[in-house]
Amino acid sequence: MCGIFGCITKEGNVAPLIHTSLKRLEYRGYDSVGIATIHEGKIHVKKDQGKIDDVHKIWNLDDLPGSIGIGHTRWATHGAPLKINAHPHMDCTEQVAVIHNGIIENFSELKLELENNGHNFVSKTDTEVIAHLIEENLKKKPEIGLVNAVLEAVKRLSGSYAIAVISTSEPDKIICARNESPLVLGISENAIYCASDMPAFLPLTNKAVWINDGELVIISAKGYEIRRIDDFSVVTRKPEVIDWTPEMAIKQGYPHFMIKEIHEQPTTLRNTLRLQEHYLDLIATFLDRAREVFLVACGTSYHACLAASYMFSKLAFLATYPVYASEFIEQHGKSVNIDSTILAVSQSGETADTLAAVTCAQQRAATILGLTNVIGSTLTRVSRVYISQQSGPEIGVAATKTFTSQLSVLAQLALRLAKKRGKISQDEMDYISEKLEKLPDIVKEIIKTQEEKVKQLAKKYRDAKIFFFLGRGISTATAYEGRLKLMEIAYVPSLAFPAGESKHGPISLIEPGFPVIFICAKDDTHKTLIGNIMEMKARGASIIAIIEKDDEAIKALADDYIEVPKGIPEVLSPIPFVIPLQLLAYYLAVEKGLNPDMPRNLAKSVTVK
Ligand code: G6P
Repeated sequence: MCGIFGCITKEGNVAPLIHTSLKRLEYRGYDSVGIATIHEGKIHVKKDQGKIDDVHKIWNLDDLPGSIGIGHTRWATHGAPLKINAHPHMDCTEQVAVIHNGIIENFSELKLELENNGHNFVSKTDTEVIAHLIEENLKKKPEIGLVNAVLEAVKRLSGSYAIAVISTSEPDKIICARNESPLVLGISENAIYCASDMPAFLPLTNKAVWINDGELVIISAKGYEIRRIDDFSVVTRKPEVIDWTPEMAIKQGYPHFMIKEIHEQPTTLRNTLRLQEHYLDLIATFLDRAREVFLVACGTSYHACLAASYMFSKLAFLATYPVYASEFIEQHGKSVNIDSTILAVSQSGETADTLAAVTCAQQRAATILGLTNVIGSTLTRVSRVYISQQSGPEIGVAATKTFTSQLSVLAQLALRLAKKRGKISQDEMDYISEKLEKLPDIVKEIIKTQEEKVKQLAKKYRDAKIFFFLGRGISTATAYEGRLKLMEIAYVPSLAFPAGESKHGPISLIEPGFPVIFICAKDDTHKTLIGNIMEMKARGASIIAIIEKDDEAIKALADDYIEVPKGIPEVLSPIPFVIPLQLLAYYLAVEKGLNPDMPRNLAKSVTVK
């Protein structure tokens, strides 16, 4: 998730304006920054790795000539956060500059084709192909002009993008295009802006035009023109007046980052389906060869590992050991060795306990693999191979969108491994893969249909002093994550157990009205789980069930239920089933007047042991 910004102004130089606007987009990522302007037939660029302020101190970003320009603040997805990978990216002749937010899925094929045509690439990014494609189109048929050169280039892209392009061939224009990545125009008396997000220009104008998927925009000093990419037809759309404060705009109108990020999950899950196959394959190969595999993480990431241990076992018949990173050295520090493989999972890639476990294992010659959201983090540097989960920055302290993305990546890994090991049928693999593709829509549906119900549930149980979370099989991981969310954000003491364990102690706490949340995936554990629900019900517990739609057997037992769509394969069930639990934690916190974005005593990234 990067921030893009472009501007044509009638008043003076544009660079200082781009610089301050990029500052307002820094929440979208900040591992490198760059600005390109056009002046006297030449593109002028300044870019470097690091935060905007640090780069500005060295290079003075304001000191670029010209009244038209584009700028970018980056959250690395392809290529390390280095100067060479910072946007804008240019073609071979330095006549085209491009900024991009999103992921170009077919960039490897396009790059190969362009290299065979003599193009010289300097970065490791997916974005650079766009600049060379435009150059190629202009070279082959200069008469088509810049707009058509961009149009033909975007038609060849698959994946997500919001781009802005400038070129010396038509130095009075910015061309933008969008597919699945946000793009909005700002219109003021003296300038026109394009940006990933409104906060970039909100102090300058409150008139905005939202650009939809499949649209291309031509911006000039005179105004803007929107066209459909498929048939070039004109789209008429007038600016809307926005009455959001800058604070509201950063949260896109949501009251908190946590709820914004819960709602972002259909998009982030779609992004995790665009991982680079090559790395998935490499990691699956390492896992396949390992004598023992430890899945090492803290907090929410540990729950993803716990779920993954069921996925690896059920799909690839591989036993893996999920371990709390803070316990790894004590538990396995002496036995881990050259035949061990550690898959460390860390959203931030900087959690001290996880890194300490990794260092210990590395010193004993184990293979280190990583799954993280932050390219360039310590975990990416110490891993033999890593995968980036592509969730974009998560600002809420409680992990939500990054958890479901981790689950999706781990499920994809388990599928790869299953294929290598030939343990399950092709039909079963195809079925799970198809469902994985549908998860973004399934999650969207859950949020749309169940959010209000969860809100009411939060009101009903507002004063509950304690909650129980129970699930069997892979739903145990979901239960643990539901409990963690509730404790972190709403400060409600909670317990979670595999439902089968509840009768070995925890059940003694039950008295009439005690709220017990059951995660009722429709898998092999379903029948036994019904028995566990009866045990609790017989002692007067209030049963809150997260069920598949039309699960009448459990509906009949539950005091309250929340439904998720039917037919979700067991190994994927934590993704949809955790959504109502995230919402419950959020709305209970709000009911109690707490700020879910700033839970007391917690930090997003814990860099001490
Ligand atoms: C902190 C955060 C949790 C997170 C955990 C692990 O405790 O508050 O939300 O799950 O660290 O973080 P990581 O970045 O390693 O996934």
